[in-house]
Amino acid sequence: DGEISLSRSMVNSSDKINQKTGSSVFQHSVERWKINSSLVLDIRKNILRFLDAERDISVVKSSFKPGDVIHYVLDRRRTLNISQDLHSLLPEVSPMKNRRFKTCAVVGNSGILLDSGCGKEIDNHEFVIRCNLAPVVEFAADVGTKSDFITMNPSVVQRAFGGFRNESDREKFVHRLSMLNDSVLWIPAFMVKGGEKHVEWVNALILKNKLKVRTAYPSLRLIHAVRGYWLTNKVFIKRPSTGLLMYTLATRFCDEIHLYGFWPFPKDMNGKPVKYHYYDDLKYRYFSNASPHRMPLEFKTLNMLHNRGALKLTTGKCV
Ligand code: CTP
Repeated sequence: DGEISLSRSMVNSSDKINQKTGSSVFQHSVERWKINSSLVLDIRKNILRFLDAERDISVVKSSFKPGDVIHYVLDRRRTLNISQDLHSLLPEVSPMKNRRFKTCAVVGNSGILLDSGCGKEIDNHEFVIRCNLAPVVEFAADVGTKSDFITMNPSVVQRAFGGFRNESDREKFVHRLSMLNDSVLWIPAFMVKGGEKHVEWVNALILKNKLKVRTAYPSLRLIHAVRGYWLTNKVFIKRPSTGLLMYTLATRFCDEIHLYGFWPFPKDMNGKPVKYHYYDDLKYRYFSNASPHRMPLEFKTLNMLHNRGALKLTTGKCV
């Protein structure tokens, strides 16, 4: 059974990663990489037992009416009101309904991308998924610019757009969204309390400026379902990172998934420093217990899946 063999190898993987120093000793085949199509199908089938990405990737208009009160997914005691604006931005049907691709890129935000020259290769994929509204234009040679699907945690408003305090912050944001045209902007608005006013401001700006971007808001069950899949396969994550969520969802739509920008370590394989993000000065938060993520464990799992041909993980330069 695909699930059992997957979990056995996830546990027995001999890769070793030293989380404290960030140095890593792991087997990673580059030349020999070949897609294992039957494993890809097995993984898709098993994930479908936990979630259906077509549906769980976004709630739709008929899920709620304006004024409904819902409980936050990871903070059940707190509630959120479905506003008129939010309701008007919910899609009528899943933005990923019936969409299928031969090859997809999932682009994480690690500084490992700097100087990689991977931009062209990333842009050559049929569908490109990016995380947290990461900037692309200034880094095009290394990260590309094609963005068919992009996530945005509500905290991005504070972190990258000054909390919309000035008109120039709002303009910068509107400009960034207008570059996305009619791509999907995926906002996890129902996870934890704290970002509701940011989500409302974002919604208001999209409506006011009549932006074409197609908004999507993950279902209330998505994160538990994704965690359930990985836990069943003995990958003991506390909360899946955006990058792992995107890979898990992409298995539904993409035959071949290539990951770039996944490297949650402060040094590369030659001991050279690697920035946490390719575009800002954020530090490696997940070494503290406060972080909800276990990115090194996720990475080890993804690397094992690379070695088995289920996905392709690029951590070096693109030629
Ligand atoms: N990532 C990585 N190594 C890094 C930074 C990021 O592997 N040094 C991957 C992770 O899977 C992460 C994704 O790239 O989820 C996007 O990065 P980021 O925007 O930094 O996500 P975070 O805000 O750190 O985490 P999340 O949005 O999941 O809370």
